[in-house]
Amino acid sequence: MLERTLVLVKPDGVQRSLTGEIISRFEKAGLKIVGMKMAWADRKFAEEHYSAHKGKAFYKSLVGFLTEGPVVAMVLEGLHAVDVVRKLTGATEPRTAAPGTIRGDYAHHSYEYTDKKGIPIKNLIHASGDRKDAEKEIKLWFTLKEMHSYKSVHDVHVL
Ligand code: CDP
Ligand code: MG
Repeated sequence: MLERTLVLVKPDGVQRSLTGEIISRFEKAGLKIVGMKMAWADRKFAEEHYSAHKGKAFYKSLVGFLTEGPVVAMVLEGLHAVDVVRKLTGATEPRTAAPGTIRGDYAHHSYEYTDKKGIPIKNLIHASGDRKDAEKEIKLWFTLKEMHSYKSVHDVHVL
């Protein structure tokens, strides 16, 4: 049940100075940061990260979005971490993402608007969709040496 998942504060989140707020939401939920860095993905790397979306109408602009500035990448650990992080992140479209979620509280972009403009939906965060994706994405963004096992208060209150 103890899982690790990948989160990126996307360029819009970094540029809007929401990095701390976003990290704080995950920390407060009891998730442990086991890896973290700022990185600026190039096109090839972003294409690899979003390879599952290759061929979709928004793929090219999505790759452009991810590479437009640095991201803050982190690996979070906790019970059911993949699902829990998705729950805190909220639905893909900020317009309909539930209040209380990061996307629902800090963004409001809509498909209706972005599809018309041919731009990607700016939704602040990437979070791995399932455990298989998490494993693949963590390997892509972090080396084993960049991740750390350490004791935290969560070991007393969560595990
Ligand atoms: O990020 P999430 O897993 O919630 O959504 P996704 O379906 O895996 O899509 C990846 C990313 O592509 C989204 O977070 C959006 O930034 C973007 N996207 C878009 O721009 N337009 C769409 N119609 C769908 C997704
Ligand atoms: Mg996804």
